[in-house]
Amino acid sequence: MKVSVHLDLLPVTADSAPVVHSLYLNCPTYIALIGGDTPTLNDIGRELETLRHDTRRQALLLLQEDHVVGFLDYKVAYPDLHSATISLLLIDESLQGRGLGKAAVEQLVTLLKGRMDRLYAVVYGNNEQARRFWEKVGFNHLRDSGPTLSWYLKPLK
Ligand code: ACO
Repeated sequence: MKVSVHLDLLPVTADSAPVVHSLYLNCPTYIALIGGDTPTLNDIGRELETLRHDTRRQALLLLQEDHVVGFLDYKVAYPDLHSATISLLLIDESLQGRGLGKAAVEQLVTLLKGRMDRLYAVVYGNNEQARRFWEKVGFNHLRDSGPTLSWYLKPLK
């Protein structure tokens, strides 16, 4: 029997940079996959600052029983007024494959239903694992924009 997972979704604040940075450090496979350097604490601080100035952008810490297990970054009213777009769902590598990512998506869908008509997920890079995940949680492949960008869609009504 599968036990359902509940996550608390907590908006990031200016103080969240260290915890988001730790999360990135705990996801070396993802960082290697997207081919970037491991972000520094300053990089993360700057990124969170940028997010906070975009009122449509929502950056959330995902907590399970008070422990940070992941990070979710999405934007409402994008790419059109009635849609939202997830640009990153990141689950601590040591906790992947336990239903946390799926729970985060289900809770976001519940949050957005009635407010948005569509939810997109944009996968960067050659991320096969992510592609399979989005299909598994009910998204359909919509289109590829160039070789490194794939759009997935889940209608919300
Ligand atoms: N291949 C096939 N199925 C998969 C895979 C995979 N690689 N990963 C997950 N799934 C399936 C699971 O089997 C499960 O299916 P089930 O419900 O039938 O058992 C379902 O997807 C949900 O799996 P979860 O355990 O909830 O997935 P997880 O918690 O590991 O979260 C995620 C998935 C977000 C991709 C996580 O592995 C992660 O953070 N990866 C690194 C970062 C990343 O690539 N994020 C996505 C970037 S793209 C974007 O965010 C728009």
